[in-house]
Amino acid sequence: MKGIILAGGYGSRLQPITLAVSKQLLPVNDKPLIYYPVSALMLADIRDILIIALPEDIPQLHRLLGDGSHLGISLTYAEQPVPNGLAQAFITGADHIGDESVALVLGDNIFHGNGFYDLLLQHRQNLEGCVLFGYPVTDPERYGVGEVDESGRLVSLEEKPEKPRSNLAITGLYLYDNDVVEIARQVRPSARGELEITDVNRTYLAADRARLVTFGRGFAWLDAGTPQSLLQAGHYVQTLEDRQGVRIACLEEVALRMGFIDADACHRLGAKLSRSGYGEYVMAVASELGA
Ligand code: G1P
Repeated sequence: MKGIILAGGYGSRLQPITLAVSKQLLPVNDKPLIYYPVSALMLADIRDILIIALPEDIPQLHRLLGDGSHLGISLTYAEQPVPNGLAQAFITGADHIGDESVALVLGDNIFHGNGFYDLLLQHRQNLEGCVLFGYPVTDPERYGVGEVDESGRLVSLEEKPEKPRSNLAITGLYLYDNDVVEIARQVRPSARGELEITDVNRTYLAADRARLVTFGRGFAWLDAGTPQSLLQAGHYVQTLEDRQGVRIACLEEVALRMGFIDADACHRLGAKLSRSGYGEYVMAVASELGA
């Protein structure tokens, strides 16, 4: 399975903060926002990841993450000159996807919770059609919304409906079989001129090939697209990290625990950042696990 992170867009709801810097590079407590979606894909054991971004943002993203080899993964970059909707990611990323299945994660989505790793691995096995992840929210009208019947089967999908049929938002993490490339190519622009991912998902739903997995209570899905949600995400991460002494979405730690790099390599990565608490943590984890 290949991975795509969609880190495009102007971050208009965060302007003027995002006038000179990509939203995905803004801090969420102790690390840039993009670390969180990268870690989500790594936890799904996905090691070949394409990052799609505005041309002007790619040099900085590359400066931060490079080609991923230090983390035992491959990161490549593709330009999205004009953000024309999330479904464009599959057209831009068609060569990267090749004949494989693909996981798409939005660059401003944060997932955290016990069992996340198991859930991802479980649902990427024998993937048929697409798997969407739902999360109950108080403001579903801001999102794609899924409706399920009594048996939990997905029955409808709507993009930012005025009158949502449920409180289940469709989160920015999607698993697809290879048909997604062709389906995305058939999608027509919506009234707001975008290739909507919800239209891709509806095509799967119409063919009875879409499944919705709901994240339960105790799981956190945060999006960091507004000043308020960015700050809330930072507070959430800070609270858990300070309380437990662990770091969420520490890429070096994830790479080590997933077996992508060894403890010595992890320790060296931490040593490069040793004047920060983050670097100290990476070194400590590496020592604990064998360096
Ligand atoms: C997009 C999708 C929406 C989804 C959301 C998750 O909305 O169109 O279906 O629920 O991401 O973050 P956007 O954030 O681009 O408005």
